[in-house]
Amino acid sequence: MLFIGRFSIRMIRVIRGQNPWGGEQRALDSCKLICKFHNMSEAVIRKCGPGDEAALSLIGQATFLESFAGILPGKDILLHCAKQHAVEKYAGWLRDPASTIWLVEIEQAPIGYVVLTTPDLPLTDISPGDLEIKRIYLLHRFQGAGMGRRLMEQARSHALAHLVRRLLLGVYAQNHEAIHFYGKLGYRAVGQRQFQIGEKLCDDLIMRLTLES
Ligand SMILES: CC(C)(COP(=O)(O)OP(=O)(O)OC[C@H]1O[C@@H](n2cnc3c(N)ncnc32)[C@H](O)[C@@H]1OP(=O)(O)O)[C@@H](O)C(=O)NCCC(=O)NCCS
Repeated sequence: MLFIGRFSIRMIRVIRGQNPWGGEQRALDSCKLICKFHNMSEAVIRKCGPGDEAALSLIGQATFLESFAGILPGKDILLHCAKQHAVEKYAGWLRDPASTIWLVEIEQAPIGYVVLTTPDLPLTDISPGDLEIKRIYLLHRFQGAGMGRRLMEQARSHALAHLVRRLLLGVYAQNHEAIHFYGKLGYRAVGQRQFQIGEKLCDDLIMRLTLES
């Protein structure tokens, strides 16, 4: 009965050209906001080690899909996830002494990470004093609550402690939110590259932060 009642209300809203979910959607949105800000105090950042590759692959694939479904073609998203977010890709970084990954967890559930590694960017002046923020990903429900900033700060502190001169990164030129996020943290555009996502060649911005100790 309740279901039929709700169904009729939704149909009336559709006929009127309104959002069929009406107040329920607003309730869902506020629930999402509560989740966003309530849980973050319980989030823990820790350095990854061997055995974390499956969790990293899971977050990478989930966040890539959440972020780019409807923006990039589905087949390219799937190809990209299968190759670039494979468990073995993360296992390789975990084995590499020049790479460091930090994971964010809530009640031991993985929700985000940042990968810092040797730069693989087409800049002419790359030196041993540079590191690249290769990936930073947070599940959508936990974005916008300061955790991205905390992860970037973790990477910056590590870089400073290792006498790194510059932090570099590549970001999809249409990912305006991420570009704004990096801009807020002091990163500036210094170049461009093309980046393959599945079968699609995408334009990326290269951004740089010069570190002062
Ligand atoms: C990019 C990402 C890591 C940012 O993390 P976050 O926790 O959402 O960001 P924060 O809450 O720490 O925000 C830090 C600052 O960036 C700004 N910012 C963050 N997200 C933003 C957005 N979507 N639009 C505009 N500004 C944004 C905030 O205003 C904030 O500045 P303030 O502290 O002065 O208010 C996260 O949104 C994410 O994982 N996105 C999907 C994956 C992705 O695009 N990764 C980058 C690929 S290169």
